[in-house]
Amino acid sequence: MQASAQAQPNIALIKYWGKRDVESNLPAADSLSVTLDTLWTRMSLEFDERLKQDTLDVNGFIAPSMLARVSHCLDLVVGNARAFARVQSSSNFPIGAGLASSASAFAALVVAADQATGSHLETNALARLAGAASGSAARSLFGGFVELTAGDEKIEVREIADSASWPLEIIVAVTAEGPKALGSTDAMIRSARTSPFYSSWLEQQAADMEIARQAVQQKDFAKLAAVAEHNCLKMHSVMWGSRPPIVYWNQATIACMETVRALQADGHSVFFTIDAGPQLKAVCLPEDGDYVRAALEQTGGVIRVLQSGLGAGARLLEQV
Ligand code: PMV
Repeated sequence: MQASAQAQPNIALIKYWGKRDVESNLPAADSLSVTLDTLWTRMSLEFDERLKQDTLDVNGFIAPSMLARVSHCLDLVVGNARAFARVQSSSNFPIGAGLASSASAFAALVVAADQATGSHLETNALARLAGAASGSAARSLFGGFVELTAGDEKIEVREIADSASWPLEIIVAVTAEGPKALGSTDAMIRSARTSPFYSSWLEQQAADMEIARQAVQQKDFAKLAAVAEHNCLKMHSVMWGSRPPIVYWNQATIACMETVRALQADGHSVFFTIDAGPQLKAVCLPEDGDYVRAALEQTGGVIRVLQSGLGAGARLLEQV
């Protein structure tokens, strides 16, 4: 009744922003992401009949604020007649700051819970369970380039190209380390209720997905860059148009965008994407990685820079 698993965060190039059904956490539209390799979350869990409640330790600290989501996720995997669990999570990157830490955490949690209880569900079933906790977590069950298709009642997730087929580098410019002011669920609900741009955002999502899918298949960097930046800026336009507005960026986020624009003007193969937080993620070809990293490190307001290639989906660990 114990197991450990590891998952890496994923970064969406075509974003998930909006829910078809808030209760079951079903995305309103499809999304496409890349799974990273050097950033990880490791989850160890043990079901223990003697425990009076679930316990959660995150990076060595008791984390009551996240316990309810973890308990709910365990109920979904195991059923709520289960024994309570002792859960330990560790990550090698900032959590709750727009770096997809919930994606890697819930992907690792469902894999560990599945093993600990001997359920051995297939990967898409685990992806659905992770996705019920955090929509983007479903994509971290798979590696490389991952597509999430949002059906009426359930999602399907699949790897459309593996990490070796088109090695890209992701450089994350960390511009603030604290937790974000507004969580993505509340922000999505507000966007759907109040942004005049929300319906056209959803209408265009299928077309953006198709272009991105083609770009990955053709390994066409310029095509992927154009659609991913456009998709990201549309998602943030939906947020900026909400009432009250949702602005996750800070000055350094914009300075980083200018750095990427300057690199592009100099002929480097790089583009940016930004999620529900102020960090900028630059995506580039491996030969441009060190140059892009140095340019972002020198950009005003950048606290530190993380670098990663593309990696595999969530997996079991022998021990943590
Ligand atoms: O999975 P959540 O609820 O944390 O939402 C993720 C939202 C974005 O990161 C902004 C976009 C995405 O597709 O990952």
